[in-house]
Amino acid sequence: MKPIHFVWLPTFLAVALATVTVNGANDQEKRFTLPDAAFDAIVKEMNANIREELTAQGDPWDMRLRSSALMIALATQHRMFHKQGDARQLATMRDAAVRMARAIDFDTGKRNMDVVRKQAEILDAYPQVKENPEALMEILKLKGIFEQEDIDFHFARKRKQIGIERELFAITRATKPPPMDTASEKIALTGYKVALLAEMLREFDDRVRPQKVNQRKEWVAHATDAQYVGWQLAEAANAKDGVSVKSIATRMLNACSECHAKFRCD
Ligand code: HEC
Repeated sequence: MKPIHFVWLPTFLAVALATVTVNGANDQEKRFTLPDAAFDAIVKEMNANIREELTAQGDPWDMRLRSSALMIALATQHRMFHKQGDARQLATMRDAAVRMARAIDFDTGKRNMDVVRKQAEILDAYPQVKENPEALMEILKLKGIFEQEDIDFHFARKRKQIGIERELFAITRATKPPPMDTASEKIALTGYKVALLAEMLREFDDRVRPQKVNQRKEWVAHATDAQYVGWQLAEAANAKDGVSVKSIATRMLNACSECHAKFRCD
């Protein structure tokens, strides 16, 4: 073999490998990030929930305010982390969501409605949220500010809310795959929400009962599973692949119920 081979072959391979890695990373990155339109839709939906609670007659529903704020906090921090969008605007929104949750005490239900309304107003200006120059540019640990119940709220059927669990049932129990021309956007959003919620759920492994402490790793594994299946569901819905959507929804419900079988006691 002439020396030139030693030069060219490895160089070629190195370039080829580097290209694969770069493309791979890009694909992965794209796969696990929230597209602009999905982010907008999630913020809009949560703002509508909050507005509805604050304008309805009677007592606003604490848990719906808190859990809507959580979803905004998760979505904004996800984008801050992945350096998508306007970081300062995102940080301003995250701060408002956190302040709203802090103004509604989870344990006592005591709340400061002036603070809640002020934060709601800031958030509801989206996409024209005025940047706060003093917004904290760091990613905050949301656990502690928000509770597992704020996560679960999105999964469950509550009053008028159908809840993610039943949305998934509707897909898996239907004989045919869902009609992608009308349902794909909503299903993709469900996928993104599950991905964001499950990522945070993972952190609640310290809440497992004392007799299950040695199973904390399993908790983390189940939550991670649900998180990844969330991104996959969104991907299949965006590709308008109804057959995959149906099978991934089944996998997702399995991921949920495998964890419930081990850790849920109600
Ligand atoms: C890592 C474990 C884990 C995963 C993954 C998980 N759950 Fe749960 N879930 C729990 C536990 C534990 C509870 C009970 C919480 C409690 O009682 O405090 C619960 C509670 C619930 C509730 C009841 C909430 C309420 O307020 O009534 C629903 C509904 C639910 N989960 C749906 C889902 C769905 C849908 C998924 C999948 C997309 C999922 N869960 C994924 C552990 C998990």
